Amino acid sequence: MLKIGDIEMKNQVVLAPMAGICNSAFRLTVKEFGAGLVCAEMISDKGIVLQNAKTLNMLYIDEREKPLSLQIFGGEKETLVEAAKFVDKNTTADIIDINMGCPVPKITKCDAGAKWLLDPDKIYEMVASVVDAVDKPVTVKMRSGWDEDHVYAIQNAQAVERAGGKAVSLHGRTRVQLYEGNADWDIIKEVKKNISIPLIGNGDVQTPQDAKRMLDETGVDGVMIGRAALGNPWMIYRTVKYLETGKLVDEPSVREKINVCILHLDRLIALKSEHIAVREMRKHAAWYLKGIKGHAKVRNAINECESREGYVSLLMNLVEEQEAKNIQAG
Ligand SMILES: Cc1cc2nc3c(=O)[nH]c(=O)nc-3n(C[C@H](O)[C@H](O)[C@H](O)COP(=O)(O)O)c2cc1C
Repeated sequence: MLKIGDIEMKNQVVLAPMAGICNSAFRLTVKEFGAGLVCAEMISDKGIVLQNAKTLNMLYIDEREKPLSLQIFGGEKETLVEAAKFVDKNTTADIIDINMGCPVPKITKCDAGAKWLLDPDKIYEMVASVVDAVDKPVTVKMRSGWDEDHVYAIQNAQAVERAGGKAVSLHGRTRVQLYEGNADWDIIKEVKKNISIPLIGNGDVQTPQDAKRMLDETGVDGVMIGRAALGNPWMIYRTVKYLETGKLVDEPSVREKINVCILHLDRLIALKSEHIAVREMRKHAAWYLKGIKGHAKVRNAINECESREGYVSLLMNLVEEQEAKNIQAG
């Protein structure tokens, strides 16, 4: 089973941190589908240190989400340590994760995110400083390297371990690859052989069978799922069940999908207000609707929609239309 420090997960399935997505509303929804661990979206160390109101709102945790890993990013030791101390003392997060994978130039230019991957000594120093300053277990999420000529995944993960980090999550792509090509699971396997703290494998797990294959082929302690869970928390449930029983649970009906989309919307409204939530949920609606016949028209209408009432009635009309068609066909 996956255990990080003293925190024991009930299974090996982890929701990946995703900026703009993994707020409490989405995390709780995914948690209810059985995730062993959920990760929060990356949060700026400077935003925390400067007590930026929007950043502090991102620290909100619903106790039902736990165990939860909260991720911070930064490029300078002083602010990273200060931010970690704040999270340690003022939140109920179970784990403090450090981002070492974000490829976005705005982040890497500030020596944060994937920039660290070029320097195992810096990783050691930064992680050791954070570990010394906090009580919660500290983990790191990283990519395999900067580019194909600088793949220091093993040295980097070993630096985390030496510094007192309690686990590593590894996305098998370099910074330069962004999301192109295939994730390299061989490097995940190599890193697993070279560290003794838990390793969570990540990249291109699109089906429950992929999750099992990653666990079997690489020997990782946990499997992290990102994009495949967008609009699809069933992916988490189906993976948990598949790993437990070897059997594939049925895909959800259209009504089930829409009901969960509306639950997610209502949680986001409670978190951020109707005005913001309805806009943010446009992208999620596109994901929840994927694969439903005739969804393009509804998706376009949702993109213009400004109220919960409008959003819900568009979705429920689609459900009724689909169910009527099924009755006719049946
Ligand atoms: C929209 C989006 C936002 C992301 N934000 C973060 C983030 O905040 N922190 C992080 O460590 N990784 C972030 N990632 C990377 C994912 O956690 C994960 O490593 C990547 O998507 C590969 O996994 P997948 O193939 O299962 O999607 C993000 C990915 C996506 C698609």
